[in-house]
Amino acid sequence: MAFATRHFVRAASSASATAAAKKLIVKHVTVIGGGLMGAGIAQVAAASGHTVVLVDQSDEILKKSTKGIEESLKRVTKKKFADKPEAGAEFIEKTLKNLTTSTDAVAVVHSTDLVIEAIVENQEIKNELFKRLDKFAPEHTIFASNTSSLQITQLANSTTRQDRFGGLHFFNPVPMMKLVEVIKTPMTSQKTFESLVDFSKAVGKSPVSCKDTPGFIVNRLLVPYMMEAVRLFERGDASKEDIDVAMKLGAGYPMGPFELLDYVGLDTSKYIIDGWHSLEPNNPLFAPSPLLNKLVEEKKLGKKTGEGFYKYK
Ligand code: NAI
Repeated sequence: MAFATRHFVRAASSASATAAAKKLIVKHVTVIGGGLMGAGIAQVAAASGHTVVLVDQSDEILKKSTKGIEESLKRVTKKKFADKPEAGAEFIEKTLKNLTTSTDAVAVVHSTDLVIEAIVENQEIKNELFKRLDKFAPEHTIFASNTSSLQITQLANSTTRQDRFGGLHFFNPVPMMKLVEVIKTPMTSQKTFESLVDFSKAVGKSPVSCKDTPGFIVNRLLVPYMMEAVRLFERGDASKEDIDVAMKLGAGYPMGPFELLDYVGLDTSKYIIDGWHSLEPNNPLFAPSPLLNKLVEEKKLGKKTGEGFYKYK
């Protein structure tokens, strides 16, 4: 019996060792999109020892992204190395050494293990990017999207590597939020899925897994809640300030729904709700909001533009 148990344990551990051996250990990462999310993803990947190239459309945008990363690293270091300033300075230096930038995605994907896309929330633009990169990235390279609302399956279908394609949904602000939703489509291979889970852990996050369903876990619950807050305000039932206070003090949420909407970006929130509304036009949870649409039209997109529901100047 003891022998049988030992034999079983050995067989099981060698099976899991074989599975582990098959997984891709991600060392080099290309992050496309240096905005709110992409810059944060690049930062945590570089800080955890990965070689990272951050890609965006212009050097000017990338300069802003790099500056944001440097400032964020200083904040993280102040906390993490409170009584060891030298170790903190070394950590910043090492992280920045791991990070380079480029405006040419095609030129940099040739030696990457993982491409994480965090560009504008638009199906056609994302599809076009993935289709282009698919031709230039090595065969082993895994593609992942940080999309909040689009179907990972549809993005994967713009490439020839549907088995090496999944979702990696980080949360804002990336350096602070511990969660990553790892999304497995029916075509994502187990090896790809496990490699993405391992990568999420390697960058210090706690991964959860979800099928390719609208909003995955968090946004499927959170977005209808925020839209209901806007509707409450639109009807004049309560002020946005009172709604925020109510949810912080009454529900224990760290931010009220309007503060959160401004933080996420009103354009991103509008894309999400519009996309879901077109999928399910009769679902009242997904109904668009005239006020949200107006603010986006006026380019009041939240914290990132200095004004959304609130002013930040
Ligand atoms: P953002 O607007 O801050 O940044 C997007 C960046 O992508 C911009 O710097 C833009 O210049 C760049 N970009 C656009 N097209 C490009 C292209 N073809 N090639 C290279 N760069 C390009 O947007 P944000 O908030 O960072 O969102 C990015 C993605 O992350 C979206 O898919 C969004 O749904 C998702 N997401 C957003 C969250 C949030 O809280 N804002 C949370 C989780 C996911």
